[in-house]
Amino acid sequence: MKPIGVFYATRQGHTQRVAEHVAATLRARGLEADVRNLRDRADGIVLDKYAGAILAASIHIGKHEPEMIKFVKQHRPELEAMPTAFLSVNLTEAGVEDANATPEQHTQSVALVQGMLDTFSAKTGWHPQRAKAVAGALLYTKYNFLLRFVMQQIAKKGGKDTDTSRDYEYTDWAALDRFVEEFAAEIPCEIFG
Ligand SMILES: Cc1cc2nc3c(=O)[nH]c(=O)nc-3n(C[C@H](O)[C@H](O)[C@H](O)COP(=O)(O)O)c2cc1C
Repeated sequence: MKPIGVFYATRQGHTQRVAEHVAATLRARGLEADVRNLRDRADGIVLDKYAGAILAASIHIGKHEPEMIKFVKQHRPELEAMPTAFLSVNLTEAGVEDANATPEQHTQSVALVQGMLDTFSAKTGWHPQRAKAVAGALLYTKYNFLLRFVMQQIAKKGGKDTDTSRDYEYTDWAALDRFVEEFAAEIPCEIFG
């Protein structure tokens, strides 16, 4: 059977965790999964050898990683011809999922996340069959001194966690599993390599 390609773009590493988790979920369903970091050898990727593709990219300063945008632009025709899903890993989604957020804060976070997804589609011309925002992580221990301070200030303003001696992960792994299960259910079992 052809594998599912799980292609990711990350800066601090959380989206790699997301990609590996997605691959583990696919494998638990008896599918093969091939996880690839788009910063390494992306030019050698041939999408014909995959039964489907899940793409995951984090957001920094409002934008998805450039190597993901480049990859999607390069492979748009193949992506449009196969089952696909896109995962946008960012911290605004943590605000969407925050049960303590006010209705105004919730509405604002939803609009921000949708805006970043719309910008991605406008830039790449690609409209994935399924898209999901995934709440990412605040990895204070991986940031340099300046970034740690800046992220702490942003977190403070947004009512998020500010203890810089540790990391915080906001990903709802169970919701991600459900999304991947729904994607996997659409992969035709008769696709053989
Ligand atoms: C410098 C920096 C800028 C960020 N900018 C945004 C942003 O504009 N919007 C957002 O929702 N999250 C933003 N984030 C949060 C990241 O998307 C989040 O930490 C994510 O988990 C990073 O994933 P990665 O470790 O795979 O790169 C930013 C994080 C950093 C460190």
